[in-house]
Amino acid sequence: MSGVYLRREGDVLVLNLGGPDERAVVFTEERMRSLSEALDEAAKVTGVRGLVVCGSSPTMFCAGADIQLIRTVTDRVRGEELAAQGQAVFQKLESLPFRTIAAISGPAVGGGFEITLACDYRIATDLPSTKIGLPEVKIGILPGFGGTQRLPQLVGIRRALDIILKAKILPAPRAFASGMVDRVLTPFENEDEESLWARLLKEAKTLAAANTPLTPRPVGVVDRLIATFPPVRSVVRTRALQAVRKESKGFYPAPERALECVFLGLKKGKEAGYREEQKGIGELVISPESKSLVHIFLVSEESQKLGRMVKLSATGKVASVLGGGVMGSGIASVLAGAGLTTKVLEPAAPVRERALQHIRESLAKKRSLSSAERETALNGLKLTDDRNTLLDSDFVIEAIVEDLAVKRDVLGRLAEGLSSKALIATNTSSLSVSAIADGLNNPERVIGLHFFNPVEKMPLVEVVRGEKSSDEAAILGAALAALCGKYPVVCEDKPGFLVNRILTPYLVEASLLLGEGFSVQAIDRAATRFGMPMGPLRLLDEIGLDTAAKVSIILENAYGERMKGHRYAEALLGLGKLGRKNNSGFYIYETNGSTPDPNIQTKLGIRVPVKEPGKNDIELQERLILPMINEAVRALDEGGAGYPGPEAAGQIDLATVMGMGFPPFRGGILFYAEKLGAGEVLSRLRHYEKTLGTRFAPASGVVSRGERKLSFLTNV
Ligand code: NAI
Repeated sequence: MSGVYLRREGDVLVLNLGGPDERAVVFTEERMRSLSEALDEAAKVTGVRGLVVCGSSPTMFCAGADIQLIRTVTDRVRGEELAAQGQAVFQKLESLPFRTIAAISGPAVGGGFEITLACDYRIATDLPSTKIGLPEVKIGILPGFGGTQRLPQLVGIRRALDIILKAKILPAPRAFASGMVDRVLTPFENEDEESLWARLLKEAKTLAAANTPLTPRPVGVVDRLIATFPPVRSVVRTRALQAVRKESKGFYPAPERALECVFLGLKKGKEAGYREEQKGIGELVISPESKSLVHIFLVSEESQKLGRMVKLSATGKVASVLGGGVMGSGIASVLAGAGLTTKVLEPAAPVRERALQHIRESLAKKRSLSSAERETALNGLKLTDDRNTLLDSDFVIEAIVEDLAVKRDVLGRLAEGLSSKALIATNTSSLSVSAIADGLNNPERVIGLHFFNPVEKMPLVEVVRGEKSSDEAAILGAALAALCGKYPVVCEDKPGFLVNRILTPYLVEASLLLGEGFSVQAIDRAATRFGMPMGPLRLLDEIGLDTAAKVSIILENAYGERMKGHRYAEALLGLGKLGRKNNSGFYIYETNGSTPDPNIQTKLGIRVPVKEPGKNDIELQERLILPMINEAVRALDEGGAGYPGPEAAGQIDLATVMGMGFPPFRGGILFYAEKLGAGEVLSRLRHYEKTLGTRFAPASGVVSRGERKLSFLTNV
């Protein structure tokens, strides 16, 4: 059942957007119909003073439009109709002849927030699950149920633009500060969610029946000026448009379209604004960008589900990190920030000192922590050089030097003293998890947990299954990553796991292009024009030429010819260049920015004349991207991702978007390949195989799919 429920309580009507057993309430077509009927009925009831709109439970108000419905719309007119229907229903609510109060507890996002904008007043509970906002542009559409028209009226144009264009979702106190809700109920000490919800409903009903006027906060003078004075409005619009275009780099149409809706409504009135929203939804919902972003949204939800396959609470759990270097201190920060009692084993005293400093700063920056939580995290933190203090650990994550013998030795000695149930994870980026686990007692509890650098920022964690790792260990590792706020992706113990394996052919091809005489600028520009956040040569500088050189040799040894490029990172390293770290690599870094090193060709012994691809750099793009597709298909067919848990192709897409910055508007590497079509991918690879050599030889999975026109989104 996905309907709404209307009942009368004295002289107030209460409308639940979902039934009490519904964990997720979304606006399916069925629920919209049911809501429309309930509002018709409400309008007919006599002697009523007001209506309260609430969710299905203390932790679920309404999560917005049905994403599956959005995913399947392929017809512009149908998109417009869906927006028009939603708008019409919310207008019914807005025009009820009595007071309407939204009682928000749990998420009120997207359409779930827009419905509250059609009410006269909004009260929200300050629970962790209460999140309020308009995230539509994140999935490539816009608030199409009146949000672009009503929010500016409520909070002023500048705030509304900030919320809509940045897809903001805020906790109740911040939503209150922005004017999105009118009142916040903070739980009393020891008040549970149910009691708080009961208090919320009671207050909302009292307010719905009261005679006292509701006093909405007025919008500020500047916003009134913008709304009413066309020349000021025009300046604000131009500035906002410039900012949006700079941010979207022309790749994301939704924010600009949303902005137009806001300003058209201001200029020509609400009716015209609503019509513009419908047109915007019609165009955007069928756009490839939206389909890609919806795909990424859905696969990221799959990853979160994987992270919830076992219930894991931080309370009373001890996590230890071995090594307090770059990665160890980052991992310790996210563990402590998630509420685990965290210990760090680090032999070098100055490194311990630095790690402590890093963790302190990192926790201070974490906005979601209350000061009490921050204090508890810091109190529980222990930096030590005595491994005996780690023996009560539930989780151990090793982040010491990348040396198999050292890792085995350190883990081997520690494992003997740990409980046999403790999860042991290695953060290795290039060694075999199976080899590390070999010889340890209870090797089934050993997995890889590959965090990316910088740990606090990078959202992905590869959960690596060694030969002997149990499903339980992988699932527990995924749950630990999720507890730290990360997206886990399960993959097999293959060199480079998923992200580095798929990324390396791209970096290899960049070196070969450079060797052919293409400039640093031309190569990187081709990649950024495709939508990558930075080009491959700049990326090598960012990774660090020392790390890059090491990883490339390991992958070349593992996979051979197709991962063999020029060893330029190593050559530059020989000249004392480390990349970004010491301001010198393929680029030269100065305080006011960076430029490609003009003498790079000489330094690397490249003697061919410098080539420019001209305006058309499609060939460069293809040469950079096709090898990644080829490698991703290999990983997919070898079972390189997704077991246990979600479907593999989607998880590879998620890994490429979150781990290497593959453009979200292209939906991940395999989603992009699917859009090109298997036949096209095969024929382009064959073309380059003929002209450039066997590194482009299509993988067997590309051949079979290409010849039979099959999908890249499933294994064959
Ligand atoms: P790092 O050199 O910054 O830190 C390693 C730390 O381990 C050092 O502080 C060292 O004193 C300590 N250590 C050495 N022997 C130890 C022992 N027996 N017991 C406890 N601590 C010991 O190295 P980083 O960059 O943090 O790398 C650590 C691990 O993470 C490596 O396996 C690396 O491959 C992996 N990794 C590194 C990434 C990066 O970008 N730096 C990314 C992802 C994984």
